[in-house]
Amino acid sequence: MGKDMPKDAKPAQQRIDQFFSGPGGRADNWRDLVEAAKAWSRGGDRAKYDAALADLSVTEEFHGYPGLQLMAALREAAAAGDAATSLALATRITVALTTRSFRQHASDWSTKEEGNGDVPELVPPTFGAHTTRRPYFETLIVTGVAPGQWPALAAEWRKLRRPVDAFIYEPVIVGSLEDAFCATMLNPNIAAVIINEGFGLRSRHNAPVLRSITASAGLNDESDASALRLAQIIKRVRPELDLYMISNRDVEELAGNPEASVVRRIFYSVEELLELHLSILEGIQDRYDTPFFDNLKKYAQRPIGTFHALPIARGKSIFKSDWIRDMGEFYGANLFLAESSATTGGLDSMLEPTGTIKKAQEKAARALGADRVFFVTNGTSTSNKMAVQALLAPGDIAIVDRNCHKSHHYGMVLSGVQPVYVEAFPMTEYSMYGAVPLRTIKQALLAARAEGRLDRVKLLDLTNCTFDGHIYNTRRVMEECLAIKPDLIFLWDEAWFGFARWSPFLRPRTAMGAASDIEAWLHDPASVAAYERKRAELGDNPSDAALLETRLVPDPRKVRLRVYQTNSTHKSMSALRQGSMVLVKDVDYHTVEEQFHEAVFTHASTSPNQQLIASLDVARRQMELEGFGLVTNAIEIALVIRREVNRHPLISKYFRVLGADGMIPAEYRQSGFVDFLAPGANWASALRSMQEDEFCLDPTRMTLVCGTAGYDGTQFKNLLANDYNIQLNKTSRNSVLLQSNINNTRSDVAHLIRVLMEISRAVEARLEQGGDGERQTFAARVKSLMTDVPDLPNFSCFHEAFRHDAGSATPEGDIRAGFYAAYNPTSCEHIRLFDQAIDQRLENGPPLVSANFVIPYPPGFPIMVPGQVLTRETIDFMRKLDVKEIHGYNATEGLKLVHPDALAKLATADRR
Ligand SMILES: Cc1ncc(COP(=O)(O)O)c(C=O)c1O
Repeated sequence: MGKDMPKDAKPAQQRIDQFFSGPGGRADNWRDLVEAAKAWSRGGDRAKYDAALADLSVTEEFHGYPGLQLMAALREAAAAGDAATSLALATRITVALTTRSFRQHASDWSTKEEGNGDVPELVPPTFGAHTTRRPYFETLIVTGVAPGQWPALAAEWRKLRRPVDAFIYEPVIVGSLEDAFCATMLNPNIAAVIINEGFGLRSRHNAPVLRSITASAGLNDESDASALRLAQIIKRVRPELDLYMISNRDVEELAGNPEASVVRRIFYSVEELLELHLSILEGIQDRYDTPFFDNLKKYAQRPIGTFHALPIARGKSIFKSDWIRDMGEFYGANLFLAESSATTGGLDSMLEPTGTIKKAQEKAARALGADRVFFVTNGTSTSNKMAVQALLAPGDIAIVDRNCHKSHHYGMVLSGVQPVYVEAFPMTEYSMYGAVPLRTIKQALLAARAEGRLDRVKLLDLTNCTFDGHIYNTRRVMEECLAIKPDLIFLWDEAWFGFARWSPFLRPRTAMGAASDIEAWLHDPASVAAYERKRAELGDNPSDAALLETRLVPDPRKVRLRVYQTNSTHKSMSALRQGSMVLVKDVDYHTVEEQFHEAVFTHASTSPNQQLIASLDVARRQMELEGFGLVTNAIEIALVIRREVNRHPLISKYFRVLGADGMIPAEYRQSGFVDFLAPGANWASALRSMQEDEFCLDPTRMTLVCGTAGYDGTQFKNLLANDYNIQLNKTSRNSVLLQSNINNTRSDVAHLIRVLMEISRAVEARLEQGGDGERQTFAARVKSLMTDVPDLPNFSCFHEAFRHDAGSATPEGDIRAGFYAAYNPTSCEHIRLFDQAIDQRLENGPPLVSANFVIPYPPGFPIMVPGQVLTRETIDFMRKLDVKEIHGYNATEGLKLVHPDALAKLATADRR
């Protein structure tokens, strides 16, 4: 991405504000240094080495390893013209960084080769001496002390290390607000920050992007660099970090300042260094503790006799068997030792948690920025049904993206909710949908208001981000909807987006990120004035047209902020499959609390899987301690894949990853942002897009167009899986979806690029060797995949038989009545898709009304829902579908329809 992207060529001077250049970029810099050292030691160009070292020295200031001494040693070797030592040291540091061995091995910190005696001075003997691995992190120290004193300051901190410490950390020292910001953005190892008063504002390094951001945040001169201001900035960027403040002034007053609530502890002067050290370790321990998992491990070690069901518990039925022993050997004994149906002894009950599960859920709520969290062990499919059931009663209206996951639709069926389906913008070219424009949502609310039915509209239900990566402007959507209906509840399905909490770039666009910004806005005294200004501007009784055109501001005095988010923890964090969470930030939660418990009782298994619950607990721990770095890496990897595919001369002839401009029409990119890879794009322009645009693209979700290589999505997915061991999930008619996550490495990228090159080469060879015939067939295939694409059918309407309780001009319908109509076989008929009777009925009636959900994969949204009137567009789409998996449709029997006689009966029955 412009200068922020992993580089094509080295910029003139290493910049400290390349925030998309994460661990991969850093590794590249070290590799470049080693290469330059090799060239120099072979008698080559020394200037190149000097330049590489100077470049690297700038950003290495923000890292604990290699640290001040090793960097100084590198510079000394260079100054002495000692190419051999330079190469040896650079190589050793690079290996230590790549293998992460410096986290455990004291020798990696030595300025000399293997144990030459200077280790104790640099690192006390306790370092690495533990038999068990002690997790390593880094603590950022922001100080006004002159740089010349930093080595001595770092040594002071190291002296505090004790053998009993559960963790070990290395100080990273910076002297300005800008450097502190860069260090928090660039160094994922930082887990705690100590802010001393008296530091400056500006870094001495070049940082144009950062300066444009600080200027827009109102940080212009040195007096803006206060400790509190910095604490707030860091908390906004990385809320998981523990912040400590050291002040020589009136600490009591500081402690009472509400703005200081972001700080974990305030210390007076530096005299209590050991206290501070202990506080830092305690803060990490708090994040490290996993109440349920810790207890499960203890439970597994206890000698327990079980006299309840669950024979596999303790593993005896497995390990004593000749026939199923391999299962035990495959999974290992702990799995069975930790199996139990007990809810006591530290194991707690999922249905009524009071102990370790409750505590684990509370920690998850803290980590995810919610008021409370429910763990769910049956996937987000269940989380969504739970939320819908808890929040809505029969007859309530919900505005729902028709393209959302089926669990929402089924949730509405079960709860008797009347959906108002709203349509996402279509991406017909790729046979997929985008996201629902805010205008459409406002129109639905205003239509309900015009009919006097707004009180029945309880919920807005949207998917953020979508499977394909469209991210809503969650804050704007909620604010504008609350301006029309101040107590509207929001359910954001963030099945794919749970990880986004740990990206400062993506977080404001998550449900909880936006909810917390809105909450702050509601408490800001300036907000009432903002509302009044907007009201005056709109005048009394503004027209719907005016309301649609204007960016609405809610009345902060009336708003009831009620936000729910579901996420498939297993899809983006280290939880076992089906691990999911429901997040709640609802000022009126007490009014639905009992319903929520009922929903848990309805949907949760009474035998929840212990390993799954433990994995949710552990996934939270990991993200709180290393989520920032893992997510940065996932984004960096995605940007590398995007760049490599689109610029590779051969691959880009046949494949392309769609950028933001390919995925989001220009009208929804108000900031003018084109793409991460577009010339001139940088972190600031991407951030502006995140702040302003109606829709943004999640860079980690990459739509790879394969129709241009002659493959349909399913074919290409199978080719990658069967011939190259590359697995992916979603396909469309002419594309596949690649996804990077916290698990991916640069090797995965290399493998993918290699495979795409091989496939491109094979296509190229076929075309070259196959003659005109082959080329024509290929062109025809590409045309069919890329241009002869069926129009995506919008939701038509519910049949009148299911709209007796609906508004005359609003589209809701009784989906549950439609669903249950199919339970009586005599009420249904089947007509085969290509039967002429279908066309006749479309022409002359009686209408064709679906008796069930029909969901083709891909695209994965319901083409038909129960009670829906079928139109020519729906039938045409079904007839052109060339996918094998269509849930709810049996080609031999045909479409399942509600019989016209049954419709007539239903209509009259309801009139009576
Ligand atoms: C948007 C969305 N919501 C919910 C789900 C269901 O999640 P789970 O697989 O965790 O049940 C999916 C599954 O793909 C999904 O795409």
